[in-house]
Amino acid sequence: MARIKVKDKEFELSITASVIDETVQKLAAEINHDYEGKDPLFLAILNGSFIFAADLIRKITIPCQISFVKFSSYSGTASTKDVKELIGLNEDIKGRHVIIVEDIVDTGLTMDKFLQDLKKHEPASVKLACFSFKKEAFKKDFNIDYLGITIPDEFVIGYGLDYDGYGRNLQDIYKIAMSPTPGPSPKREGRSER
Ligand code: IMP
Repeated sequence: MARIKVKDKEFELSITASVIDETVQKLAAEINHDYEGKDPLFLAILNGSFIFAADLIRKITIPCQISFVKFSSYSGTASTKDVKELIGLNEDIKGRHVIIVEDIVDTGLTMDKFLQDLKKHEPASVKLACFSFKKEAFKKDFNIDYLGITIPDEFVIGYGLDYDGYGRNLQDIYKIAMSPTPGPSPKREGRSER
């Protein structure tokens, strides 16, 4: 099993680049079918989704547009650091068929907030394309319309996902390796700003 070290943590191969490619192809085919004649606007959430979005959009064969949005990591003081603000929504999405592009849904808190913010802009429809989903960690109840892969509740890197800013460039997805003396999970402490 291929192992790599990123900063202080060991990771092992979990999802290969060829499985990733097949998965993205399957999602693109569904979207091409469902959105024929609808002129969809893809909204990719930075930073993590930049690679998934780039792969997905190149497999979309119908007319479409893409734009990028981001959550600020801080809004207000440190005591309110969990309250994130949506920035970069420059397109007029009123009346548009929007497809959100996200790399991972974990607890779902980030996406839940994003969906609420987006609906205020009165799009014609909103659907979600998400590459990976930690079903066991999910705390919300929105639907993932185009889901790539359901994964266990383990910290992963690669294919846009990072550990403290590192690992986004890896072509495969790696999961945190079990260590004999488990340290604190990077899940909460090592995650960089989106
Ligand atoms: P949420 O818990 O669904 O709100 O996830 C918030 C964000 O945390 C995601 O959009 C990712 O940017 C990041 N995240 C969640 N799980 C992982 C992981 O396993 N590796 C890297 N980033 C993650």
